[in-house]
Amino acid sequence: MAAKRILIIGGSGHVSGALARQAVAAGHEVTIVTRGQRAIPPGVTALIADRQDRAALPRVLPGGVVWDLVVDCIGYEPKDAQQDVALFADGARQLVFISTDFVFDPARRRFPQPFDNPHFLTDDSYGARKRRCELEFIQGDTRDLQWTIFRPCHIYGAPSQLGCLPAAARDPQLLNKLRAGEPVRLVGGGHFLQQPILVTDLAGLVLSVIGNPLSHKKIYGAAGPDIVASREYYEIIAKTLGVPVRFEELPVAAAVQEHPEWRSFLCHRLYDLAPLRLDGLKVPNTPLAEGLAAHTEWRLRQE
Ligand SMILES: NC(=O)c1ccc[n+]([C@@H]2O[C@H](COP(=O)([O-])OP(=O)(O)OC[C@H]3O[C@@H](n4cnc5c(N)ncnc54)[C@H](OP(=O)(O)O)[C@@H]3O)[C@@H](O)[C@H]2O)c1
Repeated sequence: MAAKRILIIGGSGHVSGALARQAVAAGHEVTIVTRGQRAIPPGVTALIADRQDRAALPRVLPGGVVWDLVVDCIGYEPKDAQQDVALFADGARQLVFISTDFVFDPARRRFPQPFDNPHFLTDDSYGARKRRCELEFIQGDTRDLQWTIFRPCHIYGAPSQLGCLPAAARDPQLLNKLRAGEPVRLVGGGHFLQQPILVTDLAGLVLSVIGNPLSHKKIYGAAGPDIVASREYYEIIAKTLGVPVRFEELPVAAAVQEHPEWRSFLCHRLYDLAPLRLDGLKVPNTPLAEGLAAHTEWRLRQE
């Protein structure tokens, strides 16, 4: 494929950094926009702006450029998505917005969850606000812009913290606790099913929209190839460490009452990858056991 001009909003973080590195490795011309607070991946053109400062982003963008692909990795509020539509309806050929599978009402999911299940969160949660961002594309004047939305589930891989379920989600002490023989405390004993996606698989999936007309105005679940009980995720980490693992079950009802912000975790999060395959996108295929062992080993090397 000929090199494309790609703009990433974000670009030095977990998802956005993986995307920037993979796009550079594929030979694309990559520009990123960050506040300049983290190390910049090699090979990109780095622009500095706070995207919350609505005048700053257009000010740093080079004039007269029509991007082949813009990827908004850090849109959390409708105003972020409105900014994308305003700047890129005429300023880009394609745009990907990274949403989340937390858009859904956890009490009204189906298994596997279809992308068009109409039961969304409508409160002020992170997931509900992401859904309002999606609506900016669905209802906005996007003209000829070919937009695509991905809803990742749990994203793992370096340099993120390990842990996919409360009360052991993104726990910086997880490896120490496992080595000390402490039980992993999981809501519902870790029996909720999940389909974690490796961050580099997500990056490959995002880049596979380039030049693909079937992904126009489409929303896809973005999940890994393996469906596992959440506790299995921790068993893989413990196996990599060479230690046994014990679990302590936290009752679901009490957890929801004490931590309403955990609600979106406390359900089965299953997706059919067929829509990705049928539209010719790059289907995530790294086995969880392989990707998570590598992620654990990476964390061990940071100690
Ligand atoms: N992690 C998960 O399991 C998960 C699951 C589903 C969906 N998601 C979605 O995945 C996306 C990526 O999440 P992430 O946590 O990995 O983020 P990320 O891509 O690491 O984003 C952070 C990046 O954005 C930059 N940044 C942050 N605030 C900025 C601002 N106001 N203006 C300009 N640049 C800014 C940061 O650099 P500076 O700090 O230097 O500005 C950094 O480059 C999010 O949309 C999230 O909702 C994540």
